[in-house]
Amino acid sequence: MLNESILSQSLKQPFRYFDSVDSTNDIAKDWLLSGTQALSVVIADEQRKGRGRKGRVWHTPAGVALALSVILKPTVHQAHRVSMLGALAVYDLCASLGIKHVGIKWANDVQIMGKKVSGILPEAVWERDKLIGVVLGIGVNVRVTFPPELAETAINLELATGQTLNREALLATLLTRIQYWYGQLDDNELFDTWEERLSTIGQAVEIEGIVGIAQGVDYDGALLIKTHDARIQRVLAGDVSLVSR
Ligand code: BTN
Repeated sequence: MLNESILSQSLKQPFRYFDSVDSTNDIAKDWLLSGTQALSVVIADEQRKGRGRKGRVWHTPAGVALALSVILKPTVHQAHRVSMLGALAVYDLCASLGIKHVGIKWANDVQIMGKKVSGILPEAVWERDKLIGVVLGIGVNVRVTFPPELAETAINLELATGQTLNREALLATLLTRIQYWYGQLDDNELFDTWEERLSTIGQAVEIEGIVGIAQGVDYDGALLIKTHDARIQRVLAGDVSLVSR
């Protein structure tokens, strides 16, 4: 369990803490709809039905991870940058712990030495054609132990640092960085830093059936892939896999 009184001393924004929930994103959506300020956050120690991208399950056992959903209020125009800001904040958290070899695998998986440490699930909430806000769901592996089939591709912060970490302190740092990047939504610094931290650029990749070299990203965050016939293909969403050249 997380210590709620430490959270109330260290967090600057309204927060709701739960020992166990189905998904923090669902609670944050309800809170957004009933009315709260931007940067309000829902935090849980355990999620029973945590969601990942593409309908996948995201495991958050008690006591070993960070699971949070931050309520943000971007304009429609800024909304695609919300997941970038989440990845940047998690990257900053890793860097603050002195972890080396941190990178962002396009689009927003933060990796350490090529292994996933965090996942990001932004969910927009609309009322008819009006964007009410975006719930930025973030899961970070702190001391999650992985089954053998995931150990090749996943890592946690304690393995990466060789230290026992305090989850309340990690949350405070992460939320400070989210607040910082939220203030930069319109600034080139956000896009430029995200682009600079992408480890996928220059790699041979496969995504959505397209194989080629990841050349770069455009201003919408789409990945540009140069295929073997030298055409540039633009991909807005999907899972990147590395392929051998
Ligand atoms: C991914 O598939 O990489 C995204 C995982 C997102 C997990 C987080 S944990 C907090 C929030 N609540 C959820 O149910 N999912 C997100």
